[in-house]
Amino acid sequence: MNAVHLPPLLNSGDKPRFSFPSSAPEPSDLQLSCCPMPIYTARKTVPSTPSDGTRTEPTYLVKVLTTSPTRHELTWQETLLPERFTTIKGPIPCHDVVGQVVAVNGEFSESPTFSIGDCVFGLIDFDRDGAAAEYTIVKESEIAQIPARPEGWEGGQKEWEEMLATVPLSALTAWQALFRYGELQEPLIPASTSNIEETTRSISKTGPDSTLIKRSINVLITGAAGGVGLLTIQLLNIARCSQVGVRVNITAICSKRHAATVKQLGADHVLTYDANAPSNQFESMFAPDTTYDLILDLVGPSLLTKLLNLYHASCSFLNPLTGKIVSIAAPLDISTPAFPSMNAKEIQNLQSRFKFFVVKPDAGQLGKIGALIAVGQIRGFVDRVFPLEQGKEAMEECERRGRKAAGKVVIRVGLSE
Ligand SMILES: NC(=O)c1ccc[n+]([C@@H]2O[C@H](COP(=O)([O-])OP(=O)(O)OC[C@H]3O[C@@H](n4cnc5c(N)ncnc54)[C@H](OP(=O)(O)O)[C@@H]3O)[C@@H](O)[C@H]2O)c1
Repeated sequence: MNAVHLPPLLNSGDKPRFSFPSSAPEPSDLQLSCCPMPIYTARKTVPSTPSDGTRTEPTYLVKVLTTSPTRHELTWQETLLPERFTTIKGPIPCHDVVGQVVAVNGEFSESPTFSIGDCVFGLIDFDRDGAAAEYTIVKESEIAQIPARPEGWEGGQKEWEEMLATVPLSALTAWQALFRYGELQEPLIPASTSNIEETTRSISKTGPDSTLIKRSINVLITGAAGGVGLLTIQLLNIARCSQVGVRVNITAICSKRHAATVKQLGADHVLTYDANAPSNQFESMFAPDTTYDLILDLVGPSLLTKLLNLYHASCSFLNPLTGKIVSIAAPLDISTPAFPSMNAKEIQNLQSRFKFFVVKPDAGQLGKIGALIAVGQIRGFVDRVFPLEQGKEAMEECERRGRKAAGKVVIRVGLSE
């Protein structure tokens, strides 16, 4: 099969050319070649025989229809695990997958959920090969059935599969940031299009009725127009209707060109900067008395440190009682030169409110995300589509486009049958 991957080892026993964190590859290191079909060789989690009593789960060989690269993924620790480099190939990137099941390995499992021919979408764990290849292996816990197209979807099935490729990693990251680490209440999930009206009615009983509002929560989202940001805003906009007795205010930070999109998706306030100019005017963006209960850092230290400097200057920036910061970009690094000069107690306080996490595949959450997509409540955004043969160019565009367009780069691999 054709696959896009990092370079193989020249000789078995060689050390890989790339390693985490000091020697990361560039998108230009990716190459396309004809590789053997994938064989599932799970480490640790799924044993090769069921005799040790460990839970086993079905795995599926999937013909890839579409996938999507993520900015910085070639530099991640899981990508650069030495055992992922062999003399045949290095790691295959792109962990979002939309595909069609072509074989089921349910040997050690009671009943696989999916059958040959089913179309699924999912997030492949980062320590295995991704979907920049004609075929890939997925575990049952990583996938859900692809949602049906909602009324009003203007494209065809092809565009639908391309849009869906932008969803799993970004939406699961947004979901886990908001509802797991941010501890907000999950949105109500409509079971079908037919009960969307009922769901909306029950939502309106709690959401917009101002007499029931007992308190407000202010959420600040950085990188709001990125792949994760656009889904975070949409999910939070839906979820805030089901926060009983709580009004959720959404403030988004993005560059000027994305402000209208971000506002349209549900942000109450959009704070903008010029992406081409040094963004050092944050002080003037915030009202002096604003305090945030939850800051979602989707960009990393280049922006977060500026915000923390603000926090330091005006301690009310982060709610002193409930405020927390959830980051998907980087752990808190208090050794950076621009880090605010806090005393040990302040640093300890900040560390206790800061959580960096890496998204985990979750079929249950993906099923809920799919249900919201099927009724048109959330969607992904496609920036540009490349064929598999241009996987390297797709990854280059993904790294570049962070500051250009809203939405994600997609790779079209195959067509559904
Ligand atoms: N921990 C996890 O589980 C996890 C999961 C997914 C992604 N990530 C990471 O989270 C980050 C965001 O992911 P994403 O998929 O949303 O990325 P993306 O689509 O490239 O979006 C990043 C956004 O950040 C903004 N930005 C601010 N400063 C930037 C800079 N110096 N360079 C480029 N963009 C900048 C850009 O918006 P403006 O142009 O409006 O400034 C852009 O829309 C990436 O670093 C990614 O690797 C982590």
